[in-house]
Amino acid sequence: MKNIVLIGFMGVGKGSVAREIIKLSDYMSVDTDDLIESMENRVIKKIFEQSGEAYFRNLEKRVSLWLGQNVTNTLISTGGGFYKQDNLKEIGIVVFLNSPFEKILKRIKNHPNAVKKLKKRPLLKDLKKAKELYYERLPQYTAVADITIDVTDKSALDCAKELLLKV
Ligand code: S3P
Repeated sequence: MKNIVLIGFMGVGKGSVAREIIKLSDYMSVDTDDLIESMENRVIKKIFEQSGEAYFRNLEKRVSLWLGQNVTNTLISTGGGFYKQDNLKEIGIVVFLNSPFEKILKRIKNHPNAVKKLKKRPLLKDLKKAKELYYERLPQYTAVADITIDVTDKSALDCAKELLLKV
């Protein structure tokens, strides 16, 4: 089985869809942010605060090279900026989960852990900037994706089923 690389904006539901895929399939699962946090033994928010974004992006690069060389049969959930890696397509089939910015924001705000979800993402601190980032990235996500799934108003389970039919 080729790896699946889930890309998409912060809060679109990559983690939720990944959890459903795991239940429905034989894929193993990793999350690039989790790998980075365990490499560094500190959370993403602290890495940004203490070492800066460029340092974080370097860690993403290291993770992408490691994934490309060592991982198979795995569903790889990625941080929202991971799609920029040069070797993305060598890692696996790239699946973009998409939804309009407003819907993503609503999804985060309606979550029982909304405050925590917002706090742990440094790039969501300023919502105006986050919106700009969304529109800057949207064509890039689409361009790099092998498959795009519109997740708007769908359950994570339905998105997972749709994805598994398409890969
Ligand atoms: C980022 C998204 C985050 C995390 C970091 C940077 C981004 O992951 O990697 O805060 O650049 O969009 P999620 O997409 O899981 O929130």
